[in-house]
Amino acid sequence: MKKIDIKTLGREDAFDLIGTQWMLVTAGTSEQFNMMTASWGGIGWLWNKPVAFIFIRPERYTHEFIEANERLTLSFYPEDCRKALQLCGTKSGRDIDKVAETGLNPVELESGAITFKEARLTLDCRKLFKTDMKAENFIDKDILARWYNDQPGGGLHSIYVVEIEQAYEHRLR
Ligand SMILES: Cc1cc2nc3c(=O)[nH]c(=O)nc-3n(C[C@H](O)[C@H](O)[C@H](O)COP(=O)(O)O)c2cc1C
Repeated sequence: MKKIDIKTLGREDAFDLIGTQWMLVTAGTSEQFNMMTASWGGIGWLWNKPVAFIFIRPERYTHEFIEANERLTLSFYPEDCRKALQLCGTKSGRDIDKVAETGLNPVELESGAITFKEARLTLDCRKLFKTDMKAENFIDKDILARWYNDQPGGGLHSIYVVEIEQAYEHRLR
């Protein structure tokens, strides 16, 4: 696992990276953490910092960990980890031991944040900003209907903007 220049992230195709490859959002410490799959979000530039933004529904167990901790990681995986990501995206850490079920190996970063050995890329992030979506702020009401009102368990997302403080490349493929 080696530190890489955050600027090289510009070479990643963010649509593919997040929307197709998916990521694990992990928050907590080595004593207690939780991870979940996410495929909505982005990476960019804000307040003169490299940032990521993620969208987490309040009913996720991971939401509690994000709220309780200053940092989180976003980690990206080779295709052979797809099953683990599927599991982390369909089961809750409230009900199962995701580490035991996926076989992913937690790694503690210098910052104390948690990622997994199997990742190919990890972004070690610090929370900067949070806001909760409000129904009245949807300009396109079809999105509100499609993704929230008509969806069981479709709580309005919390939006987190996090600073990417360090990026790690795990293994050369
Ligand atoms: C491909 C995929 C992408 C997902 N993206 C998100 C997302 O961006 N935000 C979110 O709140 N939930 C997302 N989910 C749902 C959570 O991963 C899922 O509810 C998970 O079981 C939550 O686990 P937890 O309760 O242990 O936090 C996604 C699920 C999948 C399969």
